[in-house]
Amino acid sequence: MAAELPLARQRLAQAGRVAALCGAGISAESGVPTFRGRGGLWENHRPEDLATPEAFSRDPALVWRWYHWRRELISHCQPNPAHLALAELERRLGRGFTLITQNVDGLHALAGSREVLEIHGSLWRVRCLGCGREREERRLDLPAPPLCPDCGGLLRPGVVWFGESLDGVLLERAWRAAHTCEAMLVIGTSAVVQPAASLALVAKQAGAYVIEVNLAATPQSGQVDVSLLGLAGDILPQLVAPS
Ligand code: OAD
Repeated sequence: MAAELPLARQRLAQAGRVAALCGAGISAESGVPTFRGRGGLWENHRPEDLATPEAFSRDPALVWRWYHWRRELISHCQPNPAHLALAELERRLGRGFTLITQNVDGLHALAGSREVLEIHGSLWRVRCLGCGREREERRLDLPAPPLCPDCGGLLRPGVVWFGESLDGVLLERAWRAAHTCEAMLVIGTSAVVQPAASLALVAKQAGAYVIEVNLAATPQSGQVDVSLLGLAGDILPQLVAPS
C-alpha cells in the first residue's frame, strides 16, 4: 500500500473536482457495525425480515425495534479520522467536492461535512405512511412503532429498503458528480449493492482517477486505478494531507 499512496495523494491533490462514495467500512472504526463479513449485521439478521417494505407491513414493531437498537448504538459513536478527512476535503474544494454516502448513521455531518448525499436515507429521519411527511427525528425513546404527531399514521424509518428505489434527485446529483469528477474516492464499500456500486465505474469510464480504500479487495478492485488496502481511518488522513 505504502508505495502507491504518494501517487494517489498527488492525483487527488491535482483534482479540482472530487467525488467520494462511502460505505459502512468508513464508520467501522467508529464502532458502527458493517453489513457483510464477520460480525456484519447480515450475519445474524435476514434483510428480508428487517429491511424491506414487506417486512415492515408484516411486523412494524419488530422492524422498529431493530432500528431503535441501531439508533441507540450509533448515538454513542463519534466520527473517526476518515470522516474528518472528508470534511476537510470539502472545506478545501467547496462545491468541487461531492460526498455520496450509503451510510445512514449521520457521522459525516457530525464530522463537519455540510453537503452529504445520503442516497440510502438516514436513521435520524422518519416518514409517515399516512400523510407522507418526512422529518428529522433524533429522540431515542420512541415507541415501536411510533405514530405521526400530525395525522396519527404509522411512521417508518427514513431509509431505503431492499426493493425500493433511491430518491431520483439525489441519485441524479450523485451520478452527475461521478460523471464529472477528476478523482473519485471509493471508501469502505463492498461494492455489491446497486446502483451505488456502479458510480465508481461511471467515474472511471468518464476518465476520473479512481482510488479505492478498503480493508480487503472487492469485486471492483481490478477496475479502479489504485486499491489501497488498510483502515480508512489510517489511509484517508494521509491521502488528504497536503503534499
Ligand atoms: P458492507 O458491509 O457490504 O461492506 C463494508 C466494506 O467495508 C467491506 O468491503 C469491508 O472490507 C470494508 N471495511 C470494513 N472496515 C473497514 C475499515 N476500517 N476501513 C476500510 N474498509 C473497511 O457495507 P456497504 O458496502 O456500505 O444498504 O453495503 C452497501 C449497502 O448494503 C448498505 O448501504 C446497506 C446494505 O444492505 C441498505 O440497507 C439499503
